[in-house]
Amino acid sequence: MTKQNYRGLYHFSPKEKWMNDPNGMVYFKGEYHLFFQHHPKGLTWGTMHWGHAVTKDLVTWEELEIALAPDEFGTIFSGSAVVDWHNTTGFFEEEPGLVAIFTHHLEVPGSPLVETQSLAYSKDRGRTWTKHEGNPVLKHDSYLDFRDPKVFWHYETERWIMILACGQTVCLYHSPDLKSWTFGSEFGAGIGFHGGVWECPDLFPLNVDGDASRQKWILLVSIGDDPAYAEGSRTQYFTGNFDGLTFTPDQESNTVRWLDHGRDNYAGVSWSDIPREDGRRLFIGWMSNWKYANLTPAEGFRGAMTLPRELKLQTGKDGGITLVQKPVQELESARVPVLALANVTGAEAVQALGSLQLDSYELNVVIPSGSSLAFKVRTAGLEETVVGVNGVRGELYVDRTKSGLHDFHEQFRGVHTAKLQSPGESIDLHIYVDRSSVEVFANGGQAVITDLIYPDAESKGISLAADDDGLVLASLTVYALSPSAKA
Ligand code: FRU
Repeated sequence: MTKQNYRGLYHFSPKEKWMNDPNGMVYFKGEYHLFFQHHPKGLTWGTMHWGHAVTKDLVTWEELEIALAPDEFGTIFSGSAVVDWHNTTGFFEEEPGLVAIFTHHLEVPGSPLVETQSLAYSKDRGRTWTKHEGNPVLKHDSYLDFRDPKVFWHYETERWIMILACGQTVCLYHSPDLKSWTFGSEFGAGIGFHGGVWECPDLFPLNVDGDASRQKWILLVSIGDDPAYAEGSRTQYFTGNFDGLTFTPDQESNTVRWLDHGRDNYAGVSWSDIPREDGRRLFIGWMSNWKYANLTPAEGFRGAMTLPRELKLQTGKDGGITLVQKPVQELESARVPVLALANVTGAEAVQALGSLQLDSYELNVVIPSGSSLAFKVRTAGLEETVVGVNGVRGELYVDRTKSGLHDFHEQFRGVHTAKLQSPGESIDLHIYVDRSSVEVFANGGQAVITDLIYPDAESKGISLAADDDGLVLASLTVYALSPSAKA
């Protein structure tokens, strides 16, 4: 057995020490910023700072200096960042700059916990930050958990909106200048899933099927781990309308919709200020789960982000609207073609895959609806992670029971499933494998499973099992993915 290097080859992870939530994602002057919850002195969660990384292409990341460190108001919890294009804050007399809106988390022994919202601004593309002298800008007496502000400019009412978690609901505030905030509404009581504290909300519009005349608002909210639920921490979403004050959901109160059906996509939110001509809604999540995040195998660093993904709204065959996700198309620039087959039998595919030994790659396949098949990835000896479709049950699944190290937590092992909605004639799977993760997108991203795995370094094989000998794969392609190979 060879000790694995768990650092993903095409996923962001910090150079050193602990990372959790993505924070302050904003696009500005050609760079996508990614700040993150960071404990610079520990491999487990601790005194929170904002770490910082940037990417120009959403494939290769550069980690920069720590952006925000604790001060007299507390440690620096999750939050967001925006470009103040019109100097509403008065911080930017010369040219527009960045404002971070984050939670100050204060724990003083013997006193109740205090969470308040604060600002910092940067005039040099996020390289250095000044905390606002009027901090904190928003307090609340009744919520112990009052955190994770996500701020955006609402064009219709021409003011800033903040959505933040307040206990087991989200609260919406508005402001002309990011400094003074007025309460608007509260959402979440009696609807959705409440088996854990609500955290890291987001609210943004998307066009249904790309049609600008059919816009919906999406409310994302992450739910913390509760020992009563094997799934641990996960993210739910609502679709609905937002008028600048109140979010009105489409769904029935007892419907729960999960963003991801794996265990390891938490606290994700979307990028702010993506140029209108681009128009995409880009998302990244923390690829872990509070159930075991502090216990996963670690080598000098602990924590990775999911692939950056594009979110869209799609009408399904049953008329329902689903939030779909796909890895950003920029990742195609890191592809190195390995295999491209069309109309092959299962047996031919097995043969073609048998000789491959790959560390990080993308495997795409199209099969007829109703068929069952299973790819085994990161295999060697008895080790394997199974990514499959069960045609009878209409399900996508990832089985990580034999994926490698798992005994750091008794609930890590398991099989995770996602329903495939009203399939058409075929099913497409996009499987992204890296050194310690699998991310599977089925049917154009309608069903998604994101899972951590801890295989041995030598487990680089790929194989295929199909129930039906006569199964024909309409296409099967494999690309090695390596940012260093980027064209
Ligand atoms: C979510 C979370 C946030 C909080 C941060 C602290 O994972 O609990 O609610 O701001 O992590 O690191």
